[in-house]
Amino acid sequence: MDSVRIMLAAHSADDRKLISSLLTDEALRVVSSFRPDADGLRKASSQPADVLLVGTRAQPTQELDFAERMFTTRSDITIILLAPALDSRTLARAMECGIARVIDISSSEHDICSHITATAHRDLNRRNTTQKIASYDSKIVACYSPKGGVGKTTLAVNLAYALATMNKKVALIDLSLQFGEVGVFLDIAKGDTIADMVEEHSFELSTIKSYLIRHQSGIQVMLSSSSPEYAELIQSTHINAILSTLRTEFDYVVVDMGVTFGDCAIAAMETADTILLVVNEDIASLHDAKRSIKVMEALNQQDKLRIVVNKDGISTITVKNVANLLEATPVLVIPFDLKAAMLAVNRGIPMLSCAPNSKASKEIRAFAQAMIRRM
Ligand SMILES: Nc1ncnc2c1ncn2[C@@H]1O[C@H](COP(=O)(O)OP(=O)(O)OP(=O)(O)O)[C@@H](O)[C@H]1O
Ligand SMILES: [Mg+2]
Repeated sequence: MDSVRIMLAAHSADDRKLISSLLTDEALRVVSSFRPDADGLRKASSQPADVLLVGTRAQPTQELDFAERMFTTRSDITIILLAPALDSRTLARAMECGIARVIDISSSEHDICSHITATAHRDLNRRNTTQKIASYDSKIVACYSPKGGVGKTTLAVNLAYALATMNKKVALIDLSLQFGEVGVFLDIAKGDTIADMVEEHSFELSTIKSYLIRHQSGIQVMLSSSSPEYAELIQSTHINAILSTLRTEFDYVVVDMGVTFGDCAIAAMETADTILLVVNEDIASLHDAKRSIKVMEALNQQDKLRIVVNKDGISTITVKNVANLLEATPVLVIPFDLKAAMLAVNRGIPMLSCAPNSKASKEIRAFAQAMIRRM
């Protein structure tokens, strides 16, 4: 912002003239002036500008209503009030109306100009930062299956690990709320859990971050509740709040979902960008997967659904059979590798770390790479 474009609103022509004469800094340009009334509102709503300067030599009343109307309709401008010293009630009202700064009209021309410039720049920076946060390009990936033991945790942990080793900032959230095992897979001793975090009733980024446990790979882990009864404390609104907040900080938020298809699971799926539905090549798993796909269609979540086949090779059912049955080509096929999987769980080290050359590890790594390329 080289020059600051100002819309000037004041009731009397005299006030408008006086205030204009106070703006002696060349960088401050009055682009339009009007009364703070209905006609002024119309003009102000479409005028390109950086600042709305509302001025009065008396105590402001209507001016504040005008500022409030503008604040709700235009989020792209900074509203400044130029008025005599205000009592505390009027000052509080001014703040409620979205006024970024109140400047005493009896200040020197130099002070008035420098306060306007500083406030306009500071407010512009704040708006830019907020926009950056809102558009932060993060991805939430949920690993789900209605059937136990198919490999959700294996996939979530190793995908998170792969992304972290590729220099991505990764959070791994254990939403297998009753019997989460992420801590076991990563050899994280007992620590704060999602249930402790929810009890604090604060979902600010700094609070949520203080409940994340840093794994040596760089993954920031949120453990599931330490005991099943605590799982009941966690509600869908908490899941929404946690995931949406983490989105502003991490490149990837990987979620290990439980088998329960309750409100919390639905909230996570709705917030996720991708849902990896993990299946095995067995009839029970495929049957459950087919039913889940129907439910996700009913919830209008089918577009983000991707199929992952884990433990490929355990039966005569092939990947092609899976694709035909589920009417979707799997995006990732992880071979059955008992040795690598057992070694990983027993040591509490991701498979990609303790058996990096196993075919299963290579497939997950390649999938993570492709994911990053797509972003
Ligand atoms: N590709 C694989 N080859 C061999 N064994 C595997 C593979 N993937 C996972 N396993 C093993 O299968 C078991 C279940 O895996 P995992 O715990 O990841 O499943 P899950 O879906 O998270 O289970 P739950 O529903 O209980 O949370 C584990 O012992 C794991 O080591
Ligand atoms: Mg699991």
